[in-house]
Amino acid sequence: MASGARIPLIAGNWKMHGSLAGSRELVAGIAAGVADMTAGVLLCPPYVYLSSVGEWIAGSNIALGAQDLAEQVGTGAYTGEVAGGMLTDVGCSYVIVGHSERRTIFGETDARVASKFKAAQAEGLTPILCVGETLEQREADQTQDVVAGQVQVVLDAAGIEAFAKAVIAYEPVWAIGTGLTATPAQAQEVHALIRGMIAALDGTIAAGLSVLYGGSVKGANAGELLAMEDIDGGLVGGASLSADEFLAICRAASS
Ligand code: PGA
Repeated sequence: MASGARIPLIAGNWKMHGSLAGSRELVAGIAAGVADMTAGVLLCPPYVYLSSVGEWIAGSNIALGAQDLAEQVGTGAYTGEVAGGMLTDVGCSYVIVGHSERRTIFGETDARVASKFKAAQAEGLTPILCVGETLEQREADQTQDVVAGQVQVVLDAAGIEAFAKAVIAYEPVWAIGTGLTATPAQAQEVHALIRGMIAALDGTIAAGLSVLYGGSVKGANAGELLAMEDIDGGLVGGASLSADEFLAICRAASS
């Protein structure tokens, strides 16, 4: 679990779920239970609900984030895209970058993920950089190479200093939405690799860097995952759509 400077962070990634009325109910349920939590709590609803969720969480200890952003900085003729500046404008402080669903379903390359990471920081957002191997890669013993490669591309593009204001989420693709979770030991091994890469360049940045685990996190397994030395929180998909489940995870991170 996060020690010293690292405050645990539990981020809910709603993906393409919900409705305005349903989101309101979910936020009300979460807000009612998080007031005394010591962990950071972050909600990442779909773009169109950001403003509303921002209003509903105003004055609470819940932060707002987006699930993606344009790689272009500023404004421009980019139909369908949403700029980082627009996200800060509606109250976002975080943005998820390079989620495996963006990489695999929407063809986002490592290079595009790196530009989005840089665009996020240029616009004043904290990027949550997602990395992780597929089942095929894990079975071929390529987990470390794949994850290290994904981190390295962003390090090369953005530089080590950029990681002083970033979060990394290790999400094994085979564990996302499948009900399969990496064991705490499997996750810890990769988290340690990630922190080690950063530590090799800057020990202070590595010590302060939050590395979240994602992939079928729920109330029942959050405690054992968060107990690991290099697991500083969770990026939660399915379980973030239930106030009770999400609060159970936030509670595990606050104890
Ligand atoms: P899951 O999703 O918790 O539903 O596995 C995690 C994620 O994709 O961020």
